[in-house]
Formats: sequence, C-alpha cells, structure tokens
Amino acid sequence: MISKPPGVEDIFPDRIDRWNFVLNSAIDTFRRYNYRELIVPVMEFTEVFARGIGTDTDIVSKEMFTFEDRGGRSLTLRPEGTAGVVRAYAENGEYNRLSVCKFFYNGPMFRAEKPQKGRLRQFNQFGAEIFGSDDPYYDYEIISVVDEISKAVGIDSYTILINSIGCRECRGSYMEKLREYYRSKEDKLCPDCKRRLETNPLRLLDCKNESCAALKSSAPVIKDHLCRECSDHFMKVKQYLDISEVQYTEDPYLVRGLDYYTKTTFEFVTDKLGGQNAFAGGGRYDYLVEQFGGKPTPGVGFAAGMERINLIIEENPIPEKGTDLFMIHTGGDTFLKSLEILHELRKNGLSVDIDPGVKGFKAQFKRADREKATFVAIIGEDELASGSASVKNQKTGEQEKVPFDNIYNFLTK
Ligand code: HAM
Repeated sequence: MISKPPGVEDIFPDRIDRWNFVLNSAIDTFRRYNYRELIVPVMEFTEVFARGIGTDTDIVSKEMFTFEDRGGRSLTLRPEGTAGVVRAYAENGEYNRLSVCKFFYNGPMFRAEKPQKGRLRQFNQFGAEIFGSDDPYYDYEIISVVDEISKAVGIDSYTILINSIGCRECRGSYMEKLREYYRSKEDKLCPDCKRRLETNPLRLLDCKNESCAALKSSAPVIKDHLCRECSDHFMKVKQYLDISEVQYTEDPYLVRGLDYYTKTTFEFVTDKLGGQNAFAGGGRYDYLVEQFGGKPTPGVGFAAGMERINLIIEENPIPEKGTDLFMIHTGGDTFLKSLEILHELRKNGLSVDIDPGVKGFKAQFKRADREKATFVAIIGEDELASGSASVKNQKTGEQEKVPFDNIYNFLTK
C-alpha cells in the first residue's frame, strides 16, 4: 500500500462539517468587515519568500519546499500567505492605486517542520491583509477580526499577546542593546543564534532552543527604546482594543518568526494545543511592499491555522446541516411528479434529495434520516390525486398537506 508523506493529512467527510463551519465563520466575519477575497498561487519564485520572510528565519533557512523548474528557476511552495499576497498587490496596477485595500484568503501552506500534533508540513491558513494605511485603527481592526472569529467558532479560552517591535528608526538602537546583552552570554547560544547575533539579533528572542529561550527573560525590552511615533501608535492600538473590550496581555518579547514586521505584533494563544500554543498571529509590515518593488505602502494582517483551530474545538458540538427536503414516492407517476417538484425547488436554491429506486416508505424514511433532512415530502397515489404532498417536519414530527405549487413557500416561511 502506498501511504501519504509525513506531515500531511487527508480530511475525510466526518471532519468536513467542523472544517466548513470554521471557514464559513471566518468568511462571514471578513464580509462584515468589508474584506474581499484574493486567490494567489501556491508556488512563487523562491526570492518572494527569501526576501519577504527573511533569510535568517527558520522558515526560510530550514523549512521551505524548494525545487527547480525545468528552466532552472528556483520555485518554492508557499510557507505562508503574506509574501505572495504582497507580491500580487505590488505587481497589480489596479488595486495598488486604491487608498486602502482589504483582502482575505485561505488555502494550503507548506513548511518542512518536524510533524507533531498541530504541526504539519501541509497545513491550511485563512488570513487577511490590509494595504495602504499606517493608522493604528487597522492594527486594532485586524486583532478584532481574529477575536470575533475565535469567539464565533467557539474557542472559549485564549490569550491575545501583543507587542510593538518599532520601526527602522528605533529598532537600530534596541538591536545594539540586544547584541550587548547576548554577547556576554555567547557560549550559551545555539550555533544559529551565534550567527544571528551579528546579522539579526531580534531572532534570538524567538529561538525555541532551551538554553537560548532561558536567556530571554532578562534581555532588554524594546518598549524602552520605541521612538515617539511608534510608542504613540502602540498606545492607540491598545486604546482602541480597550474601547472595544478586547482583552490582551503585553508580551515585550513577542517578535514572531518572520522578519517583515514593524510596530505591532500579536499572537492568539491557548493551552489546549500542547506544544503548539498559537492558533493565529500577525502584525504590521510597513516596508514589505517597497521591498517587493512597489511604491512604499504600509500593511498589516494576520493568519490563523485551520488544523489548530479544528483541534481546539474538536469536542464542541457543531450545527449539523443536512438536506432541506427529502422526497418520498411510490414509483411511476408519483416519482415523475416528485422529480418535477424537486427540480423546481433546487432551481430556487433549496437542497433537495430523493431515492429514485422504488423502495418501501420505511427504507426511504431511513435514508431521509441519514441525509439529516429538515423536512420530508411524501407523494403517494392519494397525494397525487389531491394535488398536495404530505410534508413532515422531521424535528417536531408535525405533518400537513401542502399544495404542490406551495411547497417552496411552505419550506422557506
Ligand atoms: P505564522 O504565525 O507563521 O504567521 O502562522 C499563522 C498560523 O498558522 C499559526 O498561528 C498556526 O495556527 C498556523 N501554522 C503555522 N505553522 C503551522 C504548521 N506547521 N502546522 C499547522 N499550523 C501551522 C504567518 O504565517 C503570517 N503570514 C501571518 C501574517 C499575516 N502576518 C501578517 N499578515
């Protein structure tokens, strides 16, 4: 038997109701906040991620699925959504002329990580990106969107961690302070961090290696080094969250695992996932569009992991959606009449099903149960003669005669 590669999953129908419930809750929230969907390719030139996410990050240095196409160009399966969305936005002449653009997306991402619960090599994210404004309102809006989706899907205990990692101006002096601090402890650093100490000391705060992580708690904090603009910006984000009663905890070391962030960073964490405690994360990235050759345009966004969210709410009951109507007949003309009605109802947007074979009522009712039908319509010889179906509400058991041409109104009232 040929098996699937490590770290990928098949999602069978028993998980699909919950899966779609999560995705639909997210899409519903995106629509209410006026985001529009964008679909970008699953593969990009490797440079998109190397330049966007940063060559010092674990994602780029260790976790990308990279290959050469037949023309010798290096391509990579996207490890995350933001870099591709930014590439698309910068390349597209129509949307990048609009003042503010709000996109959402979802789909598979690929990282060659060590697979474990909640950590896969192919996983799915949904996320959103806003381009064109550096107003702290949008940092707040993105966090609020994730908060609403988390509540809508039934995640009942989570913490929102937030931080600001400043801008080009204020980060320089902070990085120097970090270098100073870690240089005195260089012998305790992992080989990656020894190298990053010179190239990008912020990465040391995100290292998962035990001895590096242990040094973090006494490291200098960026809050003490933010410039006036960055600290005002952070204050406003927090003020807007307070006004909307979104609770958060400040984490002065939250730098996140991607290099593109400026100012606000945030993560949604829960203790229900074991080692993988974050189910969503994001932040502001005001230099990324220009890094891709677009005109300087600020941006802010987030992404959430579908598999992790599905794991968190695995025990929650999910509203089950079956077919609206199952039609029961006795063959011959009663089947033909049922077919006529079924066609009309489907054309009008209802979900309707039927068993075409001539079977007893009992077998057809059983099938209606299996299809989780809300209503059942029986059309036997008597019903055919009277021009009305016997329509039964499967939940309440109530049954009444409904004229054939009134079934749609009856079901939708
Ligand atoms: P990220 O924190 O790398 O951010 O990923 C976001 C979410 O994707 C995580 O919180 C987690 O739920 C899920 N995730 C990440 N890696 C895995 C994995 N190996 N297996 C399962 N789930 C995983 C980003 O990707 C940024 N693009 C977010 C962003 C958007 N920042 C600004 N805009």
